Amino acid sequence: MNAPRRGRFITLEGPDGSGKTTAARHLAEWLRSRAEPTVLTGEPGGTPLGEEVRRLVLHERHVSDDLDPRADALLFAAARAQHTARVILPALERGDNVVCARYLDSSLAYQGGAYGIEAGAIRQLQRFATYDTLPDMTILVDVPVEVGLARKRRGPWNRFEDTEGDRFFETVRAAYLALAETEPERYRVVDGSGTVEGTDAAIRSAVEPLVFGAAEAR
Ligand code: TYD
Repeated sequence: MNAPRRGRFITLEGPDGSGKTTAARHLAEWLRSRAEPTVLTGEPGGTPLGEEVRRLVLHERHVSDDLDPRADALLFAAARAQHTARVILPALERGDNVVCARYLDSSLAYQGGAYGIEAGAIRQLQRFATYDTLPDMTILVDVPVEVGLARKRRGPWNRFEDTEGDRFFETVRAAYLALAETEPERYRVVDGSGTVEGTDAAIRSAVEPLVFGAAEAR
């Protein structure tokens, strides 16, 4: 008997305002339209604990104004463990695909790259929080910092906006690009500075061989 099919785990990453949340939604809709059962989720969030962590670390000034970087990393990691155990792994085991906006690479880029937590420590924490689950593919939706920030300012306030300057976001972007370079098998870099349709199409071409097999790829 063949082993049951495990779904594909695809994450979208990128600096603030890169458009990954929209891109993730469009990717999930496209997979479903091709008869692929797909769970759409994102971090921080995806579970009641994740939503509470999101609220605390992003939107509550009395918490976020003086948050120790390790406490910050542990909160994101706690939310990630809950999300992995209760949502992501059960979905993959059922054979569903999972499309997730932000996952462990966000902690590598923000808490590791931009807040300077030592790389070995942040990686070890991610292994623990994810039950050693790595995405099958990670799409880095890359945009120049000024493009991302201009888009982001149209949305609701979060702590990163007025506490962090452009240099912070340059560091995040550079950290992502460095991650993509060190793991070319897992990462695909897509230019997110053009139209939504253009970004969606580039993401679909990257994902198609993974989900439908090389033979079907155009
Ligand atoms: P969100 O509003 O979801 O941003 P976006 O729409 O760009 O995804 O806010 C997520 C913020 O949380 C973002 O600024 C990055 C930060 N973050 C971390 O610092 N570490 C993490 O592990 C995660 C998941 C997010």
